[in-house]
Amino acid sequence: MLDTSAPDAVHRSPAVVSGITPSGSLTLGNYLGALRRFVAEQQQTRGHFFIADLHALTTDHDPIRLHDLTLETATLFFATGLDLSSAAVFVQSHVRAHVELAYLLECTAYVGELSRMIQFKQKGGRPRTRASLFSYPCLMAADILLYDADMVPVGGDQDQHVELCRNLAVRFNRLYGETFVVPELAKAVLGSRVADLAEPRAKMSKSSAASSAGVIRMLDDPDLVVRKINRAVTDSEGKVRYDPVRKPGVSNLLDLAAALCGENPCDVAETVSSYGELKRRCADLVVAELTPIQQRYHDLAHHPDYVRGMLTAGAQQATVTAEQVLARARQNMGLLM
Ligand code: AMP
Ligand code: TRP
Repeated sequence: MLDTSAPDAVHRSPAVVSGITPSGSLTLGNYLGALRRFVAEQQQTRGHFFIADLHALTTDHDPIRLHDLTLETATLFFATGLDLSSAAVFVQSHVRAHVELAYLLECTAYVGELSRMIQFKQKGGRPRTRASLFSYPCLMAADILLYDADMVPVGGDQDQHVELCRNLAVRFNRLYGETFVVPELAKAVLGSRVADLAEPRAKMSKSSAASSAGVIRMLDDPDLVVRKINRAVTDSEGKVRYDPVRKPGVSNLLDLAAALCGENPCDVAETVSSYGELKRRCADLVVAELTPIQQRYHDLAHHPDYVRGMLTAGAQQATVTAEQVLARARQNMGLLM
């Protein structure tokens, strides 16, 4: 018999939920804004970290590439240090409750609020836009609410989605009785928005062209990382100082170095005297951070069945909580149990 009572918030460690869409090979932005934080938080929290494969279906996709990127992303999750004994690590589509709760939340959301989502306004609105691009914020809300999440660690670009999730949770609770925990956004202090090295006013994005000169991938080999950082766009002032508005390129490099050594970008600026020195510092820090992860990745990538086995176990772990919350939502909405 499933327990459908609302959660007892007093006696539990905070639940943390976050996902990454396998729409490209993960970047340094994904690492600093998301993955590194998942690993740091898994010990003190009840973490649920997943590869959001269903979210990758909202725009044109190649099935073989999606399949391969899902496995690559999962392998990187484990190589970075996520561990099933501390957190549930799984593929979103393996836990069927996500899709089911997403539908219940589509029945809670309004067309008006979904039309205001920045991603839909940027990529959608054409006759052949997939309908799921419009509704996927409800799927994201389901991803979060299914695990009674208290906190959602994401990069700065996801605020609007988390805000919608909070609104849906509050509305659902008001309409149908206490069902969901209302989560908080947990933005990274450092590394919450890593910019593209070649276009420092744009976000470093994993779905940029594979060859994109300004995007560092977690699996780029050290020579390539050094080359990309050496070619990073700076400015003609020649003075290292932190000024994100007027000096976005130099400030991005300072942000990167700061996020990797745990310092403040203004303090890092004091310790380097030229753009060349700043680039060398950045490249050394990035290579030192990524090399051990890449070594573990290559070891694990030789054993895909082992990785799949861990994902199956992770999905089983996640399903236990997800089914309880889904049952609560179904019952409170009036579906016959
Ligand atoms: P996405 O790549 O959009 O699937 O994002 C997965 C996670 O990585 C989310 O928490 C994002 O906010 C974070 N993220 C993606 N790109 C960056 C970036 N350039 N800087 C910081 N965080 C990022
Ligand atoms: N939509 C998020 C992105 O593109 C990924 C994601 C899906 C997510 N579900 C989530 C992040 C739930 C946090 C919580 O970045």
